[in-house]
Amino acid sequence: MSVPQNPGRDCPLCPRLVAFRQKHRALSPGWHNAPVPSFGADDARLLIVGLAPGLQGANKTGRPFTGDWAGDLLYETLIAYGFAKGTYDERPDDGLELIGTRITNAVRCVPPENKPTTEEIHTCRPFLSATIAAMPRLSAIVTLGKIGHDSAVRALGEKPARLPFRHGGVAMSGSITVFSSYHCSRYNTNTGVLTPEMFRAVFAAVRDHLDRG
Ligand code: URA
Repeated sequence: MSVPQNPGRDCPLCPRLVAFRQKHRALSPGWHNAPVPSFGADDARLLIVGLAPGLQGANKTGRPFTGDWAGDLLYETLIAYGFAKGTYDERPDDGLELIGTRITNAVRCVPPENKPTTEEIHTCRPFLSATIAAMPRLSAIVTLGKIGHDSAVRALGEKPARLPFRHGGVAMSGSITVFSSYHCSRYNTNTGVLTPEMFRAVFAAVRDHLDRG
């Protein structure tokens, strides 16, 4: 049977993540508390691959990066480079629309401490592979952070040793160009590992790439 693009609400595959989900369903019944599906249409030319939903962000709202610290810089940058339009207001019903862009996560369930295990990343990868396979016009992938990068590279059937993670890195996998960036996490932006200018430069390069063809 083929793997769907998004795990079901009660996906049983990762016991640790299931237990964490059950705990938060009991604590906060109004939250999404389930695997977070990709945001954006299948016919997008750009796919952005993050790490995993944040507990009080995407896990609460049900939309990738929505309500997460990292979403502020990501959505602001996407709007600035024409990959999104409208207003990002940290809510899935804020009316924000992606333009030719889709956002997903390497791991679809919120992990404790924001840290999925190697096994969880591996177990969730078929959903990422199915997401990529369902995008007939895909031309570029932006990977956010090394975990998202390595998982996307493996989902493309490549070895991370051939396409290693490097901030500002650009590499080809068949017809797809992979752009890598440090993750726009609170830690990386607060410590200056990633500045808004560095992040914008990645999306400026993606814009150039897509506008050229
Ligand atoms: N929120 C997400 O959905 N993904 C990330 O990688 C970080 C925050």
